[in-house]
Amino acid sequence: RNEVDDGNQSTSAAVDRRLPRLLIIGVRKGGTRALLEMLNLHRDIAMVPVEVHFFDKFDNYQRGLDWYRSQMPLSSDAQLTVEKSPSYYVTPEVPERVYAMNPHVQLVLIVRDPVTRLLSDFAQIEASRAAQNLPNRRFQDVALLPNGEVNTQNRALHVSLYAKFLSRWLHVFPRRQLHIVDGDRLIRDPWPELQKVERFLGLEHLIRRDQFYFNATKGFFCLTGTPADVGNDNLTAADEHHNHYHHKCLAGSKGRRHPQVPDEVISVLRQFFAPHNRKFFAMVGQDFDWPE
Ligand code: A3P
Repeated sequence: RNEVDDGNQSTSAAVDRRLPRLLIIGVRKGGTRALLEMLNLHRDIAMVPVEVHFFDKFDNYQRGLDWYRSQMPLSSDAQLTVEKSPSYYVTPEVPERVYAMNPHVQLVLIVRDPVTRLLSDFAQIEASRAAQNLPNRRFQDVALLPNGEVNTQNRALHVSLYAKFLSRWLHVFPRRQLHIVDGDRLIRDPWPELQKVERFLGLEHLIRRDQFYFNATKGFFCLTGTPADVGNDNLTAADEHHNHYHHKCLAGSKGRRHPQVPDEVISVLRQFFAPHNRKFFAMVGQDFDWPE
């Protein structure tokens, strides 16, 4: 433990690496990075900048909790450490492993219209194929079979079947420990979604609307710093960490161009997902305005 003396007062904050009390468990391409970075605007949040993949990769899991803790950022007593690895949501072993670490851990899942998520996932897969000099494919040739039906063997398609994975989580954790963020709303207007997360976590409402601004070039909301902290000499290590945000847009890999797809293909997919979506809404007791 490093004791950090703030210089003025007799009290000192214990700065240490702590296991996460909050996990962003998924979903891949739901907006997990945006959510993490936005949440990190909060003074009482200490985020892990990388995806640790502790619970889903067996080799990592075998290294044990001390290793996992060593991957965490320094935080103060008052701060909540948050880690995100989107594959946690879909990996069968993960809920029980997370429970074994801490049965009271708080969980956040961010979901998005399943068809948009699939297009986003496809765009990412094609980008990595291009990086390996593999030929690009048409979305419809991957998502549909030659007879025009949905290709239910497609892995990316399965990730959009949110209900399928949720039952495992709800088997292990009570519903009240899981908060679901509407990823489409987070794109359109992030602040209200962040307020809901603050409420869920029992955090003071410190994230401000003016910390988000729409960047027309990026086509998304970007983050601005906390001017109140600039020039403040009494900053803790955590404050310094938060001061990195002056103006920050997410990387180019977030907000990719999606493939142009014929309307008929989209409508086949919408029909396919509709019953799964309704099942998901019923399980979580929350509706999302995903077109059918
Ligand atoms: P696209 O690249 O398909 O647009 P993840 O971080 O889970 O991989 O999710 C990536 C998605 O986050 C992006 O998908 C993008 O739509 C979404 N997103 C949400 N808010 C964003 C923001 N402020 N800046 C960039 N991307 C954002």
